[in-house]
Amino acid sequence: AYVVAEPCIKCKYTDCVEVCPVNCFYEGANFLVIHPDECIDCGACEPVCPTKAIYPETELPDKWKEYKTLNAKLSLEWPNLAEKLAELPEADEFKDKKDKRGMLEM
Ligand code: SF4
Ligand code: F3S
Repeated sequence: AYVVAEPCIKCKYTDCVEVCPVNCFYEGANFLVIHPDECIDCGACEPVCPTKAIYPETELPDKWKEYKTLNAKLSLEWPNLAEKLAELPEADEFKDKKDKRGMLEM
């Protein structure tokens, strides 16, 4: 499955949602996750994310390995999102910021 990693936090552009053929994105307050059992590995979402937050799980950078577990866990707790929304108001400011893990609202 594909995994949403840290760069999405406080951005949530949702371009990924618009291209996903199986609607397997789930929405939190400032982050989105992919349900690992629903993702069909089509790869459509990876290139459209403005923050480059999305990776195939086999290519997830070591520093973001935790996000595989977070996607699996939070996709069971958060509501499905099937349509693109406006990005968060602070998205452009936080797009290139590092170390956003502490800002994740769960
Ligand atoms: Fe959806 Fe395809 Fe991305 Fe999986 S890889 S989340 S199926 S767009
Ligand atoms: Fe997040 Fe990128 Fe989607 S910022 S909401 S993973 S387009």
